[in-house]
Amino acid sequence: MRRVLTYGTFDLLHWGHIRLLKRARQRGDYLIVALSTEAFNAGKGKKTYHNYRTRKAMLEAVRYVDLVIPEDSWDQKISDVQRYEVDVVVMGDDWAGDPRFEVLAPYCELVYLPRTGGVSTTKIKQDLEGSGH
Ligand code: CTP
Repeated sequence: MRRVLTYGTFDLLHWGHIRLLKRARQRGDYLIVALSTEAFNAGKGKKTYHNYRTRKAMLEAVRYVDLVIPEDSWDQKISDVQRYEVDVVVMGDDWAGDPRFEVLAPYCELVYLPRTGGVSTTKIKQDLEGSGH
């Protein structure tokens, strides 16, 4: 069984997220999503629209996702890989070469997938603000 792990916030779940999850799952047999908690986001100055519980429930409803775990610190990645016996960590290529992921190289395979163009949580928020709704 090949186990895949990815990290993210996945707020206002969108097409770019679904494509990332689908391609991540295709890299193995079991996909774990480490989902940022509200406390972790607050530390980054980020506030989500949906709370952790809702974002987790939405991810669990996606057929490509097998397990959702909390991401609450920058330093948990090596222990996540070890604890969940992860073979490959997959991220969108906005993270390519980031030392926070590159530290995983001795522990598992690291794959950066091309992001889907034209969509992001930030863009959705901006577009809705501008639309008067
Ligand atoms: N992702 C992607 N294509 C997009 C948007 C996101 O492949 N168009 C990927 C990211 O690279 C990451 C995962 O989906 O691996 C979760 O990304 P996240 O940061 O939660 O979503 P964004 O839409 O990028 O959010 P924001 O605008 O707040 O940065």
